[in-house]
Amino acid sequence: MSTIDASLSGQFRIGGLTVNRLGFGAMRVTGKGIWGPPADRASALATLRRLPEIGVNFIDTADSYGPDVSEQLIREALHPYKGLLIATKGGLTRSGPDQWTPNGRPDYLIGQAKKSLAKLGAEQIDLWQLHRIDPKVPRDDQFGAVRQLIDEGIIAHAGLSEVSVAEIEAARKVFPVATVQNRYNLTDRASEDVLAYCEANGIGFIPWFPLAAGRLAQPGGLVDRIARVHGATAGQVALAWLLARSPVMLPIPGTSSVAHLEENVAAAGLTLSASELAELNAA
Ligand SMILES: NC(=O)c1ccc[n+]([C@@H]2O[C@H](COP(=O)([O-])OP(=O)(O)OC[C@H]3O[C@@H](n4cnc5c(N)ncnc54)[C@H](OP(=O)(O)O)[C@@H]3O)[C@@H](O)[C@H]2O)c1
Repeated sequence: MSTIDASLSGQFRIGGLTVNRLGFGAMRVTGKGIWGPPADRASALATLRRLPEIGVNFIDTADSYGPDVSEQLIREALHPYKGLLIATKGGLTRSGPDQWTPNGRPDYLIGQAKKSLAKLGAEQIDLWQLHRIDPKVPRDDQFGAVRQLIDEGIIAHAGLSEVSVAEIEAARKVFPVATVQNRYNLTDRASEDVLAYCEANGIGFIPWFPLAAGRLAQPGGLVDRIARVHGATAGQVALAWLLARSPVMLPIPGTSSVAHLEENVAAAGLTLSASELAELNAA
C-alpha cells in the first residue's frame, strides 16, 4: 500500500462539520502512564503536524492526557486548526501515572471545559465528551452540565464515553449525543449493542484501543494471514476491519511516531474482501 490519505476512509458528519472517518488519538503524545511531557517532544510535535498533510482532520484528546500536555501540544502544532475538528473530554482527574478518578460534579465539568477552550485557544470546542459518568454524582446533573456548555456556546457538540445504550438514551433526553467513545476492536466487541444503537441513530461511534488484535495477529493467525495477502500489517487489517464494520465507525489510533502514524493512515486505502470480512467478523 502506497497511498497515505485518510479521506479514503470515507466521511462522517458531526453537526455541520464533515470529518474523514479515520482520525487520530492524541493520548500517546504524552509521557509514560499518560503523565507529563512525551519522551521525544520533537517526534510528538512532528506526528501532530503530519496529520493535516495526510488528510487526518478528526483529532481526539482530553484535559486529563498529561494532564494538559496533549491539548497544549495540539495547540502548539496545529493552531488555528483550519479544517480540523478537535474533540476533547473532561470528567477524569489525575493524581499520577496511570491514575484516573472520575469527577462528575457539574461545576467541575463546566470549569474543565472552559479550561480546555482556553488551552486549545479555540473560539468554541467542536466536540466535548463526558469522559466518564461519575457514579457518585446523579447522572442527570452531569448531563445538565453538558447541556449548559452547549447553551452557553462553549461547546458545539457533545459526546459520551464508556456508556451503555440505557445511558445514551438517558443523556439524549437532556442534550443531543453526537458521538459515543467505547473500547472496541477485533478482539473486544463487548459494545456491539452500543455500536448498533449508534448506527441506527446516526451517532458517531469512536472505538478506542482500535489496534488490539491480540492472538489473532500472531504469526500464522487469521489477521497475520490476511495481512500477508495484502502486503499489509496486522494493525492495518484491524483498522480496515473497523472501517468496514459500520459507516458510523470513527477509529482514532494513537501514536507519537510519524512512521506509525503513516502506517495507520495507509489502512484507509486497504479494502478487505467480503470473505475476509466474514472470517474476521466470525473470529
Ligand atoms: N475514552 C476513553 O476512555 C479512552 C481510553 C483510552 C484511549 N482513548 C483514546 O483512544 C485513542 C487510542 O487508544 P489507545 O492509544 O489506547 O490504543 P491504540 O491506538 O490501539 O494503540 C496505541 C498504542 O499502539 C502503538 N502503535 C500505534 N500505531 C502503531 C503501529 N503502526 N505499529 C506499532 N505500534 C503502534 C502506540 O505506540 P507508539 O507511540 O510507539 O506508536 C501505542 O502504544 C487514544 O489516543 C485516546 O485518544 C480513549
